This record gives sequence, structure tokens and C-alpha cells, in this order.
Amino acid sequence: MSLTENSPLQPRPKRRTLLKLIAGGFAAMASAAAGVPILAFFFHPWLHWQEDQWVDVGPIDHFAEGQTQPIAADNPVLEPWAGVSGRVAMYVRRKEGKFTVFAVNCAHLECPVAWFPESGLFLCPCHGGVYTEDGTNVAGPPPRPLFQYKHRVENGKLLVRLGHLPNLSEPA
Ligand code: FES
Repeated sequence: MSLTENSPLQPRPKRRTLLKLIAGGFAAMASAAAGVPILAFFFHPWLHWQEDQWVDVGPIDHFAEGQTQPIAADNPVLEPWAGVSGRVAMYVRRKEGKFTVFAVNCAHLECPVAWFPESGLFLCPCHGGVYTEDGTNVAGPPPRPLFQYKHRVENGKLLVRLGHLPNLSEPA
């Protein structure tokens, strides 16, 4: 019999098994804690999918002929805790009685564009994107015109289809 076999420093097999079980339990709990947010990130769109909705943004008389004006409305598909991030900014253009509703987001990397009535241009402050008054991209990196929201006039009110923000997968 060797000395090391009965050494008090040598862990007994039962204790080692117990420690392995405890360590495995902690590892499983840590994995679950880390995995829940990751799984929620991937499955949230399917579990909480909400359709875009028509939102009343005001009487059409509020939009002067020949003008492009900024407005904001509550996004109907966000959670109540979204706060100010739940507001959707857009530009409404009325020309010859027809409306166009532009998303405020640049078609390059989504910075908010600014409307300059003096020059009749939308300018993006981030990388110098330039759009004409009808939203056509004419300079800088934007690969396509400004995004537009669907809209309709009903009972003298302008309704805009809001919900999911437009992105590069949307047709021009
Ligand atoms: Fe507008 Fe880049 S985000 S030009």
C-alpha cells in the first residue's frame, strides 16, 4: 500500500462527485441565465409581432399647399414604456393637392435628415447625403431615395401607415 492512497489530502471519490455535480449545476444555471436573453432576442419578433396600423396625423388643412413640414406621431406597435423613442418623425409634403410622407431616416445609415426650404433639399448631417424635395437622392452615399410611408386621406384627415420602420429591404 502506498502512502498517497490513504493521504488525508487526497479527495475521496464521493466528495469529488458531489463537487462536480455542484459545479455542473452552477454552469447550467449560468448558461440558462445567459441564454434566455439571447433566445428572447431571436424569438421576440414572432411572439410579439404586431401589424402596422393607420394613424391619424391630423386634418389635411394643417398641411399647407407647396410646403414640406415635419411632424411626429406615436408609433402604434411599440411597448408603452418606449417613451420618446416611440415617436415617429416624418416629413409631410403637399404639392398640387397630393401628399407624400417621407421617413425622417436617411436611406444610408438612418440619421435624421433635415429639410431646408430655402434650397428645397433634405440634407443628412452624418455623411452629407442630399435629397431633392421629392426625396430623390442626388449626392452623398445614400443608395436610394428617402423612404416613404403609405398614407391616405379619409374624412378630411391624413392617415399614415406606421409601425415598423422602413429599411433597405423596402422597395424604392
Ligand atoms: Fe445619411 Fe450617411 S446616414 S449620408
